[in-house]
Amino acid sequence: MTKSTKAKLRVVLAYSGGLDTSVAIRWLQEHYDAEVVALSVDVGQEGELQGAIDRAYRNGAVEADLIDAKETFVTEFLWPAVQANALYEGVYPLSTALARPLIARTLTQVALASGAGAVAHGCTGKGNDQVRFDVAIHTLGPGLRIIAPVREWNMNRTDEIAYAKSHDIEIKVTVAKSYSVDENLWGRSIEGGALEDPDVAPPEEIYEWTGHPDSWPSTPELLRVDFERGIPVRLNGKLLAPVELVRTANRIAGAHGIGRIDHVEDRVVGIKSRENYECPGAMALLEAHRALETLVLPRDLLQFKAHVERRFSDLVYEGLWFSPLREALSAFVSSTQEVVTGSVTLRLHQGNVRAVRRSSEYSLLAPELVTYGNTSQFPQELAVGFIHLYGLPNRLAHARRESARAAKPSQETKRRVAGKVLRST
Ligand code: ARG
Repeated sequence: MTKSTKAKLRVVLAYSGGLDTSVAIRWLQEHYDAEVVALSVDVGQEGELQGAIDRAYRNGAVEADLIDAKETFVTEFLWPAVQANALYEGVYPLSTALARPLIARTLTQVALASGAGAVAHGCTGKGNDQVRFDVAIHTLGPGLRIIAPVREWNMNRTDEIAYAKSHDIEIKVTVAKSYSVDENLWGRSIEGGALEDPDVAPPEEIYEWTGHPDSWPSTPELLRVDFERGIPVRLNGKLLAPVELVRTANRIAGAHGIGRIDHVEDRVVGIKSRENYECPGAMALLEAHRALETLVLPRDLLQFKAHVERRFSDLVYEGLWFSPLREALSAFVSSTQEVVTGSVTLRLHQGNVRAVRRSSEYSLLAPELVTYGNTSQFPQELAVGFIHLYGLPNRLAHARRESARAAKPSQETKRRVAGKVLRST
């Protein structure tokens, strides 16, 4: 009799090189008898990705790959977010949330192309990231099985280190890391440890891109950002490729302490959590874009777009990047950007960024209309008639309401009201 040898389950693991995903390689082999392909997607996280890849092989991956997705991240994800002035709950520029769909898409593509039966990621069962990964993978790779080891195993950090030791897993030993950090070109997220208590001020040690406040220059710096159709293309007059532009913005704004965000956030899974971010470039570019739009977009469009922006930001946060609604909203946003071409000068100082100059060939601010000088072409005499008609409905409504208040209630009404009061007591 011949023994049937079942083909091993091939799993493509979204691999960062950190403790969780290093342990996951061995854990997947042990618990799923899987062969593991470790896949790192470079979205601009700092740190030594190539070293992590070499380590993945030594830790038992049958294959380990590094895909550079930085440019795609900026052009396909960050620029639409800038155009949509995307801030979750008005404060968080969605750095982690924007990278997840790209990582999930890459993971799915590699899995489908290599005939893998499953993908895996290192998300916990409490956060937004599992939602973002799983929804994107279900959407783009319907047949794929998803394994989330950290959601399944019952290990804390100490257990994981013990597991690594007993299984001879090589981990990059860092100084007792008490925070969970996620990083990409759009910013850093720092959570956990002492930060879990919203009543504890974030310690300086969590920041890496915004130096110590003592190092923030005492004199302000001006940064000029040029946009073409809602996309930043130049910094201080210098044409920069997308990735370089974001990195430069991070460096310049970071030096002034811009983009520190301390937020009590509402997660998709229904819990509130205290989140800290460091997103200097994002906050500077978003401020510049918003300022330029105020100059070139008409009032009704700005007001309507604000609703779209809010919904867009919620969708991105909630893991619905690959959805018909998000795509339709992006199409709307993009149609508003034809005129968002021009320059904004930002003033960076001691953790604050604000626009101090803006100009555009499509500016709707017409000097000949707004000036108080004698070149004014605004027909002021017409204002009287305009105001008369403009205020007419309000005048009428006010008069009617006054007379309603003055009218004495009828006997019948009084009786009914009194009866109701009696019955309800
Ligand atoms: N709360 C943020 C979000 O949902 C960031 C989570 C990032 N993960 C981390 N381990 N810091 O987008």
